[in-house]
Amino acid sequence: MKVEKAKGKLGILIPGMGAVGTTLIAGICAINREMALPIGSLTQMGRIRLGKRTEDNKPLIKDLVDLHPVKDIVFGGWDVFEDNVFESAFHADVLDKKLLEDLRPELEAIRPMKAVFDKSYAKRLNGTHVKERNTKMELAEALMQDIETFKEQNNCDRLVMIWCGSTEIYIEEGPVHETIESLEDGLRNNHKDIPPSMIYTYAAVKLGIPYANGAPNLSCDIPAIIELAKQTGSPIAGKDFKTGQTLMKTILAPGLKCRALGISGWFSTNILGNRDGEVLDDPDNFKTKEVSKLGVLEEILEPSLNQELYKDLYHKVRINYYPPRGDNKEGWDNIDIFGWLNYPMQIKIDFLCKDSILAAPLALDLVLFLDLAKRAGMSGIQEWLSFYLKSPQAPQGVTPINDIFKQQIKLENTLRYIAGEDLITHLGQDY
Ligand SMILES: NC(=O)c1ccc[n+]([C@@H]2O[C@H](COP(=O)([O-])OP(=O)(O)OC[C@H]3O[C@@H](n4cnc5c(N)ncnc54)[C@H](O)[C@@H]3O)[C@@H](O)[C@H]2O)c1
Repeated sequence: MKVEKAKGKLGILIPGMGAVGTTLIAGICAINREMALPIGSLTQMGRIRLGKRTEDNKPLIKDLVDLHPVKDIVFGGWDVFEDNVFESAFHADVLDKKLLEDLRPELEAIRPMKAVFDKSYAKRLNGTHVKERNTKMELAEALMQDIETFKEQNNCDRLVMIWCGSTEIYIEEGPVHETIESLEDGLRNNHKDIPPSMIYTYAAVKLGIPYANGAPNLSCDIPAIIELAKQTGSPIAGKDFKTGQTLMKTILAPGLKCRALGISGWFSTNILGNRDGEVLDDPDNFKTKEVSKLGVLEEILEPSLNQELYKDLYHKVRINYYPPRGDNKEGWDNIDIFGWLNYPMQIKIDFLCKDSILAAPLALDLVLFLDLAKRAGMSGIQEWLSFYLKSPQAPQGVTPINDIFKQQIKLENTLRYIAGEDLITHLGQDY
């Protein structure tokens, strides 16, 4: 496959410079200064097997495909708060204060542009650093202007946009999302089913910029944007970073299923106290997250095909806003399973995680792989990046894959394909 070289500077544009966005930016600064390692990032530390097992050839992924070097990245973005990245990271309270002080000049230099925002889509947010225009289309045009100016001022060769903004209220796909024309009409007429995140998406994809969506908002998961992405040659990937509890779920559920163990109940609850938790405390915003989190078990376990094992499975997901914990989320899972002759058993998971520490490397990988896809001439939904996503987009007519091991096979084989290497099928004794 012919891939253009990763030259010059890559601009990463982030709508929403909160906990995840600033942990990504500060992390890259620290890594570039050799103060820390990019743990959790496959593009930086992961290896991939090539050829037969007997050949023992496992290069780093970044040595197999031409990924943009992290030292040549520049960051920009938008937020509804005026805080620069240092202030926002300080407030998010994810990273050590000493580390942030060491990186202060670099972080202070990155200031968010005025956001496209409407409080009715995230009621708990009170930001004032917001653009004012008459129509949603004018807001999209203002974003496109911001993007062009950023590219020129920072002398970027290419750009990628990644949504790290808040989860918006639940919106179902409707007629306005169907075609490029209906979406553009809706933008001109301020249609209520076009939330701010979709305006950013439209602006990026219209300009041919790869776009990833780290939140469960519809955003690029509508026919109009998928079509536009094909027209403008933009690779897209959504939605919702697969980090804590859902990561565990999509690791464990395939394991139970492959041993034909039954599951009667899966209760998942979380406490977290960051701004994300505060926004999700509103029932309309939680609904968006709930839908994103609930889908995975159904697809992995296929209860309609495996009725005796999963048809009665009761799946419940809760998120509780609990300020004392900040970004240090705790996710509990109680899993009621049954085995041979219906004998019941239980599994308990207590994952004391750091939400943004898990999300930042995913954001980096998504950005670098989308940039690779763009240079390889790939456009539209990049299903091979489902590996990173809680509610992955799939082409029309097929069910998305949530099983992390199947997602990993697809990711690795796509990388082999891009690099012109043989795909690994695991057939034959040498494989
Ligand atoms: N941290 C994780 O592990 C994780 C996992 C999956 C998904 N997510 C999602 O990623 C997103 C970011 O998470 P976070 O922890 O950084 O949240 P956060 O609240 O710290 O940051 C979100 C930022 O987005 C800004 N924002 C909201 N609407 C905006 C708009 N229209 N334009 C520009 N900025 C806007 C907010 O002001 C805030 O600073 C959330 O939607 C969250 O649900 C996070």
